[in-house]
Amino acid sequence: MTNPLLNTAAWSALGAHADATRKLHLRDLFAADPGRFASLSFEAEGMLLDYSKQRVTTETLGLLHDLWRAADVAGWQSRLAAGEAINHTEQRAVLHHALRHRGDSAVMHDGRDVMPDVRRVLDHIKSFCDAIHGRHWRGATGEPISDIVNIGIGGSDLGPRMATQALAAHRHRDVRVHYVANLDGADLATTLEQLQPRTTLFVVASKTFTTQETMQNAASARAWLVGALGEAAVERHFVAVSTNLKAVAAFGIDTANAFEFWDWVGGRFSLWSAIGLPLALAIGFDNFTRLLEGAAAMDRHFREAPLAENLPATLALLDVWNTNFLGAETHAVLPYSQSLGLLSRYLQQLEMESNGKQVGRDGQPLGHATCPVVWGEPGTNGQHAFYQLIHQGGRLIPCDFIAARHADFALPGHHEKLLSNCFAQSEALMRGKTLAEVQAELAAAATAVAPAPTFPLAPYKVFPGNQPSTTLLLQTIDPHTLGQLIALYEQKTFALGVLWNLNSFDQWGVEYGKQLAGRLLPIIEGKAPATGLDSSTAGLIAACKP
Ligand code: F6P
Repeated sequence: MTNPLLNTAAWSALGAHADATRKLHLRDLFAADPGRFASLSFEAEGMLLDYSKQRVTTETLGLLHDLWRAADVAGWQSRLAAGEAINHTEQRAVLHHALRHRGDSAVMHDGRDVMPDVRRVLDHIKSFCDAIHGRHWRGATGEPISDIVNIGIGGSDLGPRMATQALAAHRHRDVRVHYVANLDGADLATTLEQLQPRTTLFVVASKTFTTQETMQNAASARAWLVGALGEAAVERHFVAVSTNLKAVAAFGIDTANAFEFWDWVGGRFSLWSAIGLPLALAIGFDNFTRLLEGAAAMDRHFREAPLAENLPATLALLDVWNTNFLGAETHAVLPYSQSLGLLSRYLQQLEMESNGKQVGRDGQPLGHATCPVVWGEPGTNGQHAFYQLIHQGGRLIPCDFIAARHADFALPGHHEKLLSNCFAQSEALMRGKTLAEVQAELAAAATAVAPAPTFPLAPYKVFPGNQPSTTLLLQTIDPHTLGQLIALYEQKTFALGVLWNLNSFDQWGVEYGKQLAGRLLPIIEGKAPATGLDSSTAGLIAACKP
């Protein structure tokens, strides 16, 4: 066992408590305690967190708080803030919080304050936004830019893509921002179909500037542009975001048009860096600044708020409870907001790439479950697709419902219905419907003209309930609250990594597939013999031969 937490009194007490409370049903807990909402919800940073529909009692919370202290999360927060190389397998500090740090205090890395560099790049982003929005930046034919295409993948795509959609109500009206990630040429080709080379600017976003998907898409985009406007046009139509300025120059992008970031920014935490450039272009630099401020406010809250009213800590501890003590294997993220339509995809990378690991900080098997499978879709769409399984599929699926009190697009009649669905779903998941209730309902509905079915329908209509959920209620979806929301999940992810005693900041698990793809490519291209392959891989390659 490499997680010392497993040997603590807090962990054992939680195990015993889980056994003792396993049979409790949420509907009984609510019936027994009319004050349950008041004691198991709180408001902080303008957000309401209601976790009264989780399978917890105040005693559970007390034990989880003991666990938090035993894991010394506060100590790890200090190590992170001090710029220690807590990403020990890559010997890197984790300082993405510096990117949204406000005020004059230093953030130290290797004996040096990183803030002057952070501010320099922010100034560069601002002046570039001004140039594009003010129509001073002109393409090779002298026309202003109307369309920006971000070419990147993973953390160099998901964050700005998700936030651009989330903040559609705040977008700049004169430029459209598109995102291309997939190696499948259909992604780039269908994007380019809508565009004119004369008025299109590409942002090639890659921390390493070596990622196969991004380099292939960037090369194809370059060929498209050069085919229409000539080689000299590249300078006015391509900019880059990277830590690898040498590779940027080798690609033919003027490094004066490169936006730098640093190896202490992990890919999935890079939205706050120059990787946010397409977002800043989409919503304007002032709104981008508001997003950073929202995230900084959540960082402060995480550091300073007491445990019982700490948003990231509460979410993290509920995840540990559901995963390690109740045995949940998945976690659904269900925003009742079209704007947050890409949030679950974003959180998949944030949480699963960070904490989807079985080996502890000491390289030994952990011996307990870690990150659940994160998935979800916005409500109400999901209700008409997969909610059937959450209600009656018999699996434990903790859900995060996320909603805003006020709509970001205020069409009359929509928002009240949206909220009623959101709250109804968490109520139904909590209460369930018993056989007796179903039978009573059926009896009440039976009429002379609608005869009873020839078989008993009641068992099909029973809902077991007791499905745990948390509801997070924001005021609105705007740049500040979105910054808070993303940082909330980031900090939760960090805290979970500490509680699970793993390194949340490396991602060795994505390397093997890349390595094998590199070996298969020359075989598929017919440049190398198909030797040493298993019969399935050899068979699939043979089936693709012309
Ligand atoms: O999927 C692995 C990964 O390294 C992610 O962590 C990262 O966000 C993504 O690839 C893209 O990497 P890059 O920004 O270097 O192109």
